[in-house]
Amino acid sequence: MGKKIETEGKTILVTGSPGFIGAALVKRLLRECGSGHIISLDNMCDYYDTALKEHRLAGIEKASEVCGAKHTFIRGSIADSVLIRRVFEEYRPDIVVNLAAQAGVRYSIDHPDTYIESNIIGFYNILEACRHSYDNGSEGVRHLVYASSSSVYGGNTEIPYSVEDKTDMPVSLYAATKKSDELLAYAYSKLYGIPATGLRFFTVYGPAGRPDMFYYSATEKLRRGDAITLFNYGNCRRDFTYIDDIIEGLLRVLKSAPEENGSLSAAHAVYNIGGGNPVELTEFVSVLTEELIRAGILPERFDLTEHVRMAGMQPGDMTETYADTEAFERDFGFTPETEIRAGLRTFAEWYSMYVQ
Ligand SMILES: NC(=O)c1ccc[n+]([C@@H]2O[C@H](COP(=O)([O-])OP(=O)(O)OC[C@H]3O[C@@H](n4cnc5c(N)ncnc54)[C@H](O)[C@@H]3O)[C@@H](O)[C@H]2O)c1
Repeated sequence: MGKKIETEGKTILVTGSPGFIGAALVKRLLRECGSGHIISLDNMCDYYDTALKEHRLAGIEKASEVCGAKHTFIRGSIADSVLIRRVFEEYRPDIVVNLAAQAGVRYSIDHPDTYIESNIIGFYNILEACRHSYDNGSEGVRHLVYASSSSVYGGNTEIPYSVEDKTDMPVSLYAATKKSDELLAYAYSKLYGIPATGLRFFTVYGPAGRPDMFYYSATEKLRRGDAITLFNYGNCRRDFTYIDDIIEGLLRVLKSAPEENGSLSAAHAVYNIGGGNPVELTEFVSVLTEELIRAGILPERFDLTEHVRMAGMQPGDMTETYADTEAFERDFGFTPETEIRAGLRTFAEWYSMYVQ
């Protein structure tokens, strides 16, 4: 098992906060880091409504008022190498969690530039800053944790997806950038001794989630009385992972940095972090509808069949995602356990308050 790292009293840089996962992580870190300093860095891009990012940022600020740890928000892009160098020199983070990215599979078809800018150039800047954090004998960054994605499995037909599987058949530019990040991180880890862990997230959902993701956009459409479209005629299965499970997993990971194991290896590891329990899209939509009715967002006698359209497969999409979670459980003693109904209930309750 990896080298243990204390988070208490440490300086932790979280890029992509106040994004969905970043905001939830920072709130948890503020609770756990005692006298530490948590730095959020985000360019507040308008890929989806920035009001939601402001809402999450307000939640972080509120959390920081009752915590021992300090919080600093820096508005800027990881693609800005001068800014990133300055942030690392000024704050000297012990741990870096890179969640900043242009997310979304379908958007990459029409907006390729932003994926290259944030996911490739931005991540390269983070790696360079980690590399130079050791200059002049400084202790530097003790662990870099970065977001990869289940989309790297692309054209794989073997399920569940294991980190041992080949992942050189991405079916979207987004997936290709995430796979590239893993390769870049491996090379930097090998060359400069940066302890680094990549996490392949599987469809994360929950309160204050991302409006571009299916459960959220479906909620908005159903609430307006519009129809939702089930691609591949509903024959899709997704390994949904509830946000609190992701945060618990992330926290365990960032406290344990991989170590080099012989001259051929690097202090670099990649894990799946997913529910390990894929759900049929049609079942997911039924449970979502029931929970939206329960939360008062949809009327009691809402007829879902009148609001569903079937369509063929979309480019860039995968018919099934299914995480093999054995390695994660072995190394971190944790497997996501939140049931879909419980997770969607919390989402529906949050949504009904948010839209009021
Ligand atoms: N949510 C999921 O299901 C999921 C699944 C797989 C992978 N991921 C990955 O996890 C990470 C977090 O995802 P999320 O769901 O919280 O997405 P999110 O879009 O809510 O958060 C990402 C944040 O990064 C910021 N950002 C984008 N480009 C930036 C740049 N150049 N500089 C600084 N900030 C920038 C955005 O403003 C946003 O707030 C991303 O790397 C994403 O690709 C998420």
